[in-house]
Amino acid sequence: MQKVAVIGAGQMGSGIAQTVAQHGIPVLLADVDLAVAEKARAGIDKALGKLVGRGKIAIEDAEAALARITPIGSYEPMADADLIIEAATERETVKQSIFEAAGKVLSQGAIMASNTSSIPITRMANFSPDAARFIGLHFFNPVPVMGLIEVIPGLATAQETTDRVVAFAEGLGKEVVLSQDEPGFVVNRILLPMINEAIFVLGQSTANIEDIDKGCRLGLNHPMGPLQLADFVGLDTCFEIIKVLYDTTGDSKYRPAPLLVKYVEAGWLGRKTGRGFYDYSNEVPVPTR
Ligand code: CAA
Ligand code: NAD
Repeated sequence: MQKVAVIGAGQMGSGIAQTVAQHGIPVLLADVDLAVAEKARAGIDKALGKLVGRGKIAIEDAEAALARITPIGSYEPMADADLIIEAATERETVKQSIFEAAGKVLSQGAIMASNTSSIPITRMANFSPDAARFIGLHFFNPVPVMGLIEVIPGLATAQETTDRVVAFAEGLGKEVVLSQDEPGFVVNRILLPMINEAIFVLGQSTANIEDIDKGCRLGLNHPMGPLQLADFVGLDTCFEIIKVLYDTTGDSKYRPAPLLVKYVEAGWLGRKTGRGFYDYSNEVPVPTR
């Protein structure tokens, strides 16, 4: 790929832009407006600065990566991108309007991909100009660190699209897992029921937040407990994913935990809002229950 555009400059879009730029590819970064995209670029600058400070990368490489990221405030500049990656809020209507708008400038031969965590690729492809060039490209958080990308061809995705996207993912130094377009794909189909169940365990007062997380960290050797991870992913995103699993399968085992619904209704979305199962206003996160 010669140029990539990323739409949605939250934690995932920023991580994708950073990773792509660190691999030498120019990136256009868009969000709801230019100011948000510019703020995201400033966040990437900070993240690269941390890596320099820890001796992980050279300052020249950090500067070169940052220089490859251009924040934009409209869709027109994406006309010369070979790959447009949508990484906006996990809501189908939001994504549909992005595919329609970006579809108007998508050049012939360019690929449109979604970083959705769960929404069916085949269904969303209907909102892009060419379902043969539409695909799921699912990164993991934090993108610069995690070694996996799931690639999810929809029913109408061309083999050439899959091949090009796999080559791109591998070029970023990631391993690829191919998934059929089934609810939650592979990893979230397994992860989200665990996170949801941890919230049931909390809701039933079986144990407190600290012990649930400690149990999984020490008892299962997970780097983060499930509630800590839910806060990290974003409780709104967790809720949307488990809801897609529930709605698309009709299986009651995926019903969202009532406490998850309550936290989302309260706007306690985890790290990104400063409060979820933990309070992030101090340097060390404090469990809230
Ligand atoms: N950019 C580059 N490097 C970064 C980084 C960033 N933004 N954030 C952390 N790192 C690097 C650090 O430099 C460090 O590197 P070294 O080991 O080489 O020194 C390494 O990552 C570990 O970082 P820290 O020491 O700061 O922190 P940690 O040891 O507590 O690890 C973590 C942090 C990597 C996030 C770890 O806790 C972890 O793996 N957590 C689980 C993450 C996970 O499960 N992600 C998947 C979520 S689900 C998903 O993504 C799918 C979905 O659709 C919801
Ligand atoms: P986030 O809340 O951090 O960021 C979402 C961004 O999308 C925000 O900056 C928001 O302003 C922007 N946005 C909303 N509507 C938009 C529009 N119409 N046009 C452009 N930008 C718009 O969310 P996130 O965690 O970065 O998740 C983004 C996507 O990545 C979701 O589909 C999510 O399911 C997926 N994902 C998330 C994770 C995770 O761990 N958080 C992991 C893998 C995939």
